[in-house]
Amino acid sequence: MPGLTIGDTIPNLELDSTQGRIRIHDFVGDGYAIIFSHPADFTPVCTTEMAAMAGYAQEFEKRGVKLLGISCDDVASHKEWIKDIEAFMPGAKLTYPIMADPDRRAIKELNMVDPDEKDARGVSLPSRTLHIVGPDKAVKLSFLYPACTGRNMDEVLRAVDSLLTAATHKGKVATPANWKPGDRAVIGPSVSDEEARKLFPDGFETADLPSKKGYLRFTKV
Ligand code: BEZ
Repeated sequence: MPGLTIGDTIPNLELDSTQGRIRIHDFVGDGYAIIFSHPADFTPVCTTEMAAMAGYAQEFEKRGVKLLGISCDDVASHKEWIKDIEAFMPGAKLTYPIMADPDRRAIKELNMVDPDEKDARGVSLPSRTLHIVGPDKAVKLSFLYPACTGRNMDEVLRAVDSLLTAATHKGKVATPANWKPGDRAVIGPSVSDEEARKLFPDGFETADLPSKKGYLRFTKV
């Protein structure tokens, strides 16, 4: 059975966090939010990830995107760990809340369980899952990484920029491979050339491909 995936509503769980009690839908509010898990406090890759996320927090804030961490350690442990994270990245303040899930109920509902990583009692730990949730509380995009692979925050930011670009253009554009802000987007397959001429006054360029189907069209956004 697949777990929580693109298009699903994020479960409206209420959990303790380093910044008090959080109900996920209230936290997301009318904007976008990134909800991301890590296997355990006081572990090496997780410490670098949490510090990196703290360093990117202003970039997400500029885009109106909130950050929300979660792991299965308790709030007291998270608060002690934050001291290490901030010391590891001098000058960075960890401003986002980290939720606690000591009974592992939330990580199951959020599809954040790594069946291969277990704690000393043999209980599964969280994977490095990251859900980008929209104002409608639906999952827009997910990363699912194992414990051995720390996430690339440039890629998280790029994914946010792609989602926001597509949303601004009401799904009429998408972003191609290795796209970054400032690059041309592609026009979605549901948009006819006639509609595209109206939507994109600067025009568009159609790639000349052997099939001559004219489906790969680039435009400035
Ligand atoms: C880490 O953060 O380094 C880590 C956590 C759990 C298992 C393996 C690595």
